[in-house]
Amino acid sequence: MILETKNICNRLQNEIVALSGGGKKTPLLCCVGFSEDGSTLSYFRSIERAAEKTKVRVRKEILKDISIHDAVSFIETLNQDNDIDGIIISRPIPLPLQKKGIRNIINPIKDVDCITDKNLGRLVTGDVIYTPPTPGAVIEIIKEFNLETAGRNVVILGRSDVVGKPLALLLLKKGVDATVTICHSKTKNLASYTRTADILIIAVGSPQFLKADMVRPGTTVIDVGINVKDGRVVGDVDFEDMRRVAGMITPTPGGVGPVTTYILLLNVAKAAKRRTTD
Ligand SMILES: NC(=O)c1ccc[n+]([C@@H]2O[C@H](COP(=O)([O-])OP(=O)(O)OC[C@H]3O[C@@H](n4cnc5c(N)ncnc54)[C@H](OP(=O)(O)O)[C@@H]3O)[C@@H](O)[C@H]2O)c1
Repeated sequence: MILETKNICNRLQNEIVALSGGGKKTPLLCCVGFSEDGSTLSYFRSIERAAEKTKVRVRKEILKDISIHDAVSFIETLNQDNDIDGIIISRPIPLPLQKKGIRNIINPIKDVDCITDKNLGRLVTGDVIYTPPTPGAVIEIIKEFNLETAGRNVVILGRSDVVGKPLALLLLKKGVDATVTICHSKTKNLASYTRTADILIIAVGSPQFLKADMVRPGTTVIDVGINVKDGRVVGDVDFEDMRRVAGMITPTPGGVGPVTTYILLLNVAKAAKRRTTD
C-alpha cells in the first residue's frame, strides 16, 4: 500500500485557515536564505505554493555574501518586527554563520522550524511550543494510517538535529511508546538493525540507498529523503524495488515533504494566534 498524504495536507490546510481566520492579523512567515542556489529557491517556492492555499503570507529575504554582523542584525530586526510571526532560515547555513550560532539568534517564539537550542531542548520534556515540521510530518502519517507504535520496533536511519534526533524523541513520548533505534553512518552491519524494524524511517540524504533486501517483508517504510538523481526527485528508498516487499511505503515526491510544509505553516498560524492572544 502506498501511503498517500493528500488527505493529511487537506486536513492541515483547513486547520491553518480556521486558526488564521480567528486571529486579529494574517500570519506572516519570513523565509531567510543565504544564497540563491536552486534548492533554497525551490524550497521557498514550495512553501509559497502551499501558503497560497491558506491564509499565511510569505516574505522571502535572500542575503547574499552578508557579513556575520549584518546577518545577526538582520535576524534581530526580524525578531523585533511585529508583523512577522515566524522566521525560518534555509539550510545549509554557511559555516561562519553556523559557528556564530545564527539559528539561536531567532526568538524561540518565532522559531516555527524548531531549530533553536531552546525549542529543541523542550522536546526532551515534551513541553513544546512548535512541533518540528519534518518529525511532525512523520508522526502525522503514523496517526493518519493508524500505524501501531506501542512496543513496536521503529528504526530511524539518520541522526540529524532536524530529523533523526527530534523524531526519536517524538516516538518515545508516552502514548506513542515506540521502541526506537537510531542508526548513522558509523553503524556496523546496518541491515541487522533495519531487518528488526516494524516501521523504518530513513533520512540519510543518499538517493535510493535503502533496498528491499534490507527489510523484512511487510515492514512499513517512511522515506524522508529528498534528492535529485538524473534530473528527477527521488527519496532515500529505492521505491520500485522496495514496494515489492514493504507492507506500506511513502512515495517521493509527494509523501513526507508536503506534510512537512503544512506543519510549518500550521506553526506560523499558531505563532500568530499566540502573539495576538497573549
Ligand atoms: N521531507 C522533508 O520534509 C525533509 C526535511 C529535511 C530533510 N529532508 C531530506 O532528508 C534527508 C536527510 O536530511 P538531513 O538534514 O537529516 O541530513 P544530514 O544532516 O546530512 O544527516 C544525514 C544523516 O544520515 C546519516 N547517514 C549518512 N549516510 C549513511 C549511511 N550510509 N548509513 C546510515 N546512516 C547514514 C548521517 O550519519 P552521520 O551522523 O554519522 O554523518 C546523518 O546522521 C535529505 O535527503 C534531505 O533532503 C527532507
